[in-house]
Amino acid sequence: MTVAIEMGQTTAGASAAIDLEELLATRLLVQGNSGSGKSHLLRRLLEQSAPWVQQTIIDPEGDFVTLAERFGHLVIDAEDHTERSLQVAGERVRIHRVSTVLNLEGLDAENQMRRAAAFLGGMFEVARDHWYPMLVVVDEAQLFAPAIAGEVSDEARKLSLGAMTNLMCRGRKRGLAGIIATQRLAKLAKNVAAEASNFLMGRTFLDIDMARAADLLGMERRQAEAFRDLERGQFMALGPALSRRPLGLRIGPTDTQPRNAAPRLMPLPEATLEDARAIILAAPPPETAARPPRRTPPPDLLSQLMAAKQPAPETDPETAEPPLSAEQLAERRERLDRILRAILAEPDAGFRAIGVLYQEFVVRCRIEGLGAVVPELTDFRRMLTRARAGLGTEMAEDDAWQDVSLRAAILPEDMQGVFMMIARAAKEGWPCPSDAAIARAYGTHSLRRARHLLTYIEEQGLIVCQLDGAGRRIVTLVELAWATAAADPNADEAPPEAACNSSSL
Ligand SMILES: Nc1ncnc2c1ncn2[C@@H]1O[C@H](COP(=O)(O)OP(=O)(O)O)[C@@H](O)[C@H]1O
Ligand SMILES: [Mg+2]
Repeated sequence: MTVAIEMGQTTAGASAAIDLEELLATRLLVQGNSGSGKSHLLRRLLEQSAPWVQQTIIDPEGDFVTLAERFGHLVIDAEDHTERSLQVAGERVRIHRVSTVLNLEGLDAENQMRRAAAFLGGMFEVARDHWYPMLVVVDEAQLFAPAIAGEVSDEARKLSLGAMTNLMCRGRKRGLAGIIATQRLAKLAKNVAAEASNFLMGRTFLDIDMARAADLLGMERRQAEAFRDLERGQFMALGPALSRRPLGLRIGPTDTQPRNAAPRLMPLPEATLEDARAIILAAPPPETAARPPRRTPPPDLLSQLMAAKQPAPETDPETAEPPLSAEQLAERRERLDRILRAILAEPDAGFRAIGVLYQEFVVRCRIEGLGAVVPELTDFRRMLTRARAGLGTEMAEDDAWQDVSLRAAILPEDMQGVFMMIARAAKEGWPCPSDAAIARAYGTHSLRRARHLLTYIEEQGLIVCQLDGAGRRIVTLVELAWATAAADPNADEAPPEAACNSSSL
């Protein structure tokens, strides 16, 4: 089966198409000065191919987020995530085959490079089982694969250039088809440009870019002069997925619009000079205090939860429930806990999606007459993390645990439970959880991910891992100096204490 992606019309009026299968094997480079229509071209290509193939867009300006509404791409705002989470997200995108837009808007050059590299790295390094074909579109590729060192650190440049080189040179075997666009061919690293076999050349003014284009396409420099006269939206196509001879084409319309559409000329509002002076030079508002950190973990989640579910003071006092006593709260808490433990005791619970678990939780709460106080999904997620780690709510009241919770807060939420599980084992002097037990608490089957996770937590300075002479692992909590007993990291079973803890119903 061949799939033809309609791009527009040739100058002769015929329909111009890209052969998708060929494109997956041979990659594409789009070049043209700013305003020549590259992003429009990429959008057309993405829209037309969306039903056929998974895709991801590395989007420095946040232009492509509008694809989400029409085509269901998941928008990932890179600003809100660490490199580590983006790396994991990159892997998951391939495992679950979700089309995405990585929105890098609002980040400085250094962080755009680092985070794009992390995300691309995750997609590149995913296990072989998940090497399904996908398009990886990089707009303004010279930002991620610059020809010369710029203002950013050497490390950021190395990471980003490495990721782009992997994408264009070694990605094909892994199913990744790189499609890159640049406004300045001379600013794009040569090895990255050289791996594309398909070209769409748009309007180009500078001699040095024209010369590079002619070299890449194997054209006479004189022939490349024609790129100067191209109009916006007009491109010269060449390559196995496009045309065997240079072919002029005009890109057709798109269904969606860029979010950052070019500003239009608008008549200026009429105002007197005095009004203008009053508005522009008015006293500035008082400076606001620095923003508080985004996430501070509640010291005792469930009591907060219960408090939040109390009727607000302004509700009708006749119908409002009387405030609950501490004992009643504790009892309610214990009942919610018990329901959660029952769900988690089911054999496949560790691997079921959180949405499915939550629905079951809600139903069981309603059966138990707790329908009015069911925690929200986000709170449920935290309860689940702790419960998977074998921690009951009673732990939340222990002083030493307050300290551990505070430390856990520097980790991404999905890792906190694993850290707490290890901390618990260390506190009690239990055997160190095996890789399998860690994987289970993390909700994955992958032992490799479990080991990565442990390394990551160690890198954050929370724990120290050591092996004894017999290859058994000991984890020590930094500062608290609690240590687990030595245990075989490759053991199949969870250590007995952890096992009996999670089934103590
Ligand atoms: N083929 C086309 N048909 C209609 N409008 C186009 C076409 N190509 C580009 N445009 C419009 O021209 C402007 C600049 O195009 P854009 O794709 O953003 O350029 P670039 O990414 O090369 O800087 C945008 O407003 C875009 O909508
Ligand atoms: Mg653009």
